[in-house]
Amino acid sequence: MILFKRIADLHKYLDAQRQTGKKIGFVPTMGALHEGHLSLVRQSKSCTDLTLCSIFVNPTQFNAPRDFEKYPVSTEQDITLLVSAGCDLLFLPAVAEIYPEGQRPAVHYDLGMLESVLEGKFRPGHFQGVCQVVHRLLDLVRPDDLFLGQKDYQQCMVITRLIEQTGYREKTRVHICPTLREEDGLAMSSRNRRLDKTERATAKAIYQSLCFIKNQLRPGELAELTETAGKQLTEKGFRVDYIEIADAASLAPCPSWDGKQKLVALAAAFLGEVRLIDNLPLN
Ligand code: PAF
Repeated sequence: MILFKRIADLHKYLDAQRQTGKKIGFVPTMGALHEGHLSLVRQSKSCTDLTLCSIFVNPTQFNAPRDFEKYPVSTEQDITLLVSAGCDLLFLPAVAEIYPEGQRPAVHYDLGMLESVLEGKFRPGHFQGVCQVVHRLLDLVRPDDLFLGQKDYQQCMVITRLIEQTGYREKTRVHICPTLREEDGLAMSSRNRRLDKTERATAKAIYQSLCFIKNQLRPGELAELTETAGKQLTEKGFRVDYIEIADAASLAPCPSWDGKQKLVALAAAFLGEVRLIDNLPLN
């Protein structure tokens, strides 16, 4: 695996590869890698010629400074994992390399409703920061294929929208890859490392509550179902930001169900200081 820290070097290398007809697959990450990330690398390897992973803990997408400070960093281990997964290239830039002119956003991305519901509501500015860094990375890498994890359901929709609004609509194919779970159902996440032993044992309840919603889903009003699921989490010691059922394609809230509309259940809740998110397509 070749490691790049400078944009200029990466640019030069990718341009040369592109000229030989190689298709570039890109897996953007914030590091603290786990099997979920590695599955994206493997997916990229199976359908492109050259797989690039980036590790960059993007300061502009953290709406809570403490979350940024505490975000797990394990670069050495990440490099070992990427090598073992057969990743070809790693981009590991410093903040000044990504934001040479400072971190203030130059543009405001129009994300429509995605910015005011669920994660957009509870993490103001988060998706603008995600778009800022992903747009910058896309301009650097110009990937043929981009690999994202469905664990971040709303982020996948935001990035798909970003791609539609920028010059990448024709160029870059987005692959949304399934969420990988631990044996007890907990969705794999870098933040899981911050859970202590007791919290880790409790954390599976988020997935269980989403499964409860899926199993109990019936046409009609949905408020009681999500309220019950929320109570289950609160009783186990979670501080729930939301547990909601939404339209799977738009994330518009769904107060009731006609038995046909495609739905997804989404949850975000704190265990101690750690905020976990998860989702489950329902039908
Ligand atoms: O999902 C992540 O790890 C980040 O939000 C991303 C897409 C790498 C942008 O910083």
